[in-house]
Amino acid sequence: MDLIYLDPPFNSQATYNVLFKSTAGEKSRAQIEAFEDTWHWSDEAELAFDGVMASGNSDAAEMLRAMRGFLKENDMMAYLSMMAVRLLELHRVLKPTGSMYLHCDSTASHYLKLVMDAIFGLQNFRSEITWKRTNVHNDSKDWSDVADIILYYVKDVGSAFVWNPIYLEHTKEHIASKYQEDSNGNLFTLSDMTSPHARPNMMYEWKGFPSPAMGWRYSKETMTKLDAEGRIWYPEDKKKRPRLKRYLEEMKGTVVTNIWIDIPPINSQAQERLGYPTQKPQALLERIITASSKEADVVLDPFCGCGTSIHAAQKLRREWIGIDITHLAVSLIEKRLNDAFPGIVYEVHGTPKDLEGARDLAVRDKHEFQLWASSRVKAVPFRGGKKGADTGIDGLIYFKPDGRTTERAVVSVKGGENVNVAMVRDLAHVVDREKAKIGVFITLADSTGPMRTEAVKAGYYETPYGKYPKIQILTIRELFEGKQPNIPLVDPSAFKKAAKERVGEQDALEF
Ligand SMILES: C[S@@+](CC[C@H](N)C(=O)[O-])C[C@H]1O[C@@H](n2cnc3c(N)ncnc32)[C@H](O)[C@@H]1O
Repeated sequence: MDLIYLDPPFNSQATYNVLFKSTAGEKSRAQIEAFEDTWHWSDEAELAFDGVMASGNSDAAEMLRAMRGFLKENDMMAYLSMMAVRLLELHRVLKPTGSMYLHCDSTASHYLKLVMDAIFGLQNFRSEITWKRTNVHNDSKDWSDVADIILYYVKDVGSAFVWNPIYLEHTKEHIASKYQEDSNGNLFTLSDMTSPHARPNMMYEWKGFPSPAMGWRYSKETMTKLDAEGRIWYPEDKKKRPRLKRYLEEMKGTVVTNIWIDIPPINSQAQERLGYPTQKPQALLERIITASSKEADVVLDPFCGCGTSIHAAQKLRREWIGIDITHLAVSLIEKRLNDAFPGIVYEVHGTPKDLEGARDLAVRDKHEFQLWASSRVKAVPFRGGKKGADTGIDGLIYFKPDGRTTERAVVSVKGGENVNVAMVRDLAHVVDREKAKIGVFITLADSTGPMRTEAVKAGYYETPYGKYPKIQILTIRELFEGKQPNIPLVDPSAFKKAAKERVGEQDALEF
């Protein structure tokens, strides 16, 4: 990556709960789980901590260990561990000339800076940017906290990392106080023509004005040229010095500092507002991307929310990758991109983490949905005959009811809005045709009463060790709740071996 910008969730966001609500009003399980994992000391946090200890970066390990000594196992420590293990990976995928911006707030910025110092090296810290993200709250009992912090690091300060300084137009006040009009009505300001350092070869008298103590800033030739162009202003008092006229239209403006007060927050009326509570203004991302990357560079945002950085990167003709744990974000980004850049081509990858995500995948790509749902019940993807031929089988589960003989269960996956009893009947026929023992019907939509009756009618697969419903209906919702088909002794080595024989080496390996 050439540039990474990340804006991970902060604990201090009181409104964060709003994020958990999808447009359909259902809660996004993926996001709740991510939030729990990130902010509470748990096995996940311990694993993340161990990941940093084993990362091979002893500075990062020592830093995190020291922080744990101070903070103990609390929410902040969980957050820092989850962040550290990710920051290590982000540092790894950054090009030697790459830059990284970590957006946070005063809740954790001081800890995160130490973690970043350890991972990137102290010398690679460039700036701490303060962005005024909101307006003052008059009722505040403290110094009103209106700022976010953005930590900027480069991978290697000795490399040719990209830096394009950003300029802002001069303010009216600045122009009024510093500029004057010439006879043609053009605004100009005056700047010093004396050298700041001693320059013996630039010490000469100029038009009756004695040499300054350190010499002039310009050679005699340049002085002559500037004079011919009318660029030199001469004071009447010979004790004063001539000055250079600089015209407003030639000035780049004021260089932007590390205090950003000119990018307003997204207000309720803003056109770019998408309703995503943590949405950042596009101008903020355009500034970062413009300063620290060039066209065709690759920008990564691993917590991309509703895709502000992606939008800015696309607009500025950069390549980009965005990651978010929730489908909500992904679908919003798609809408945003399609609206802003009609005909844009991009790819969406990833497996659903909740029901909404599953629905999204089913609409997006039926085949991928079937593969994913089959994998949830440990089935081997099945492709009988030509690719796409409808055999009524989407996957096969291999099992050994007696520990020796390998038997099969047929899996049929339905991702549509409507399922009906005929589909269950069809599966029962396929089970018989294939001489399989069990049929597993996986459906995104809820099953109906007649479907369940039809399943019961199919009877049982009886073994000396127990009996199992011959047709089993499972909804995706149940799969997310941890339910699995009732099948004896599913054996991974059996299905891998059988998979190679039936569907070819490639599919088995992919699986
Ligand atoms: C503060 S928001 C980012 C907002 C974004 N900058 C924008 O302008 O829309 C943080 C995002 O991180 C996502 N997230 C939380 N945990 C995550 C994880 N473990 N992996 C990827 N994304 C995660 C959340 O779903 C949320 O969209």
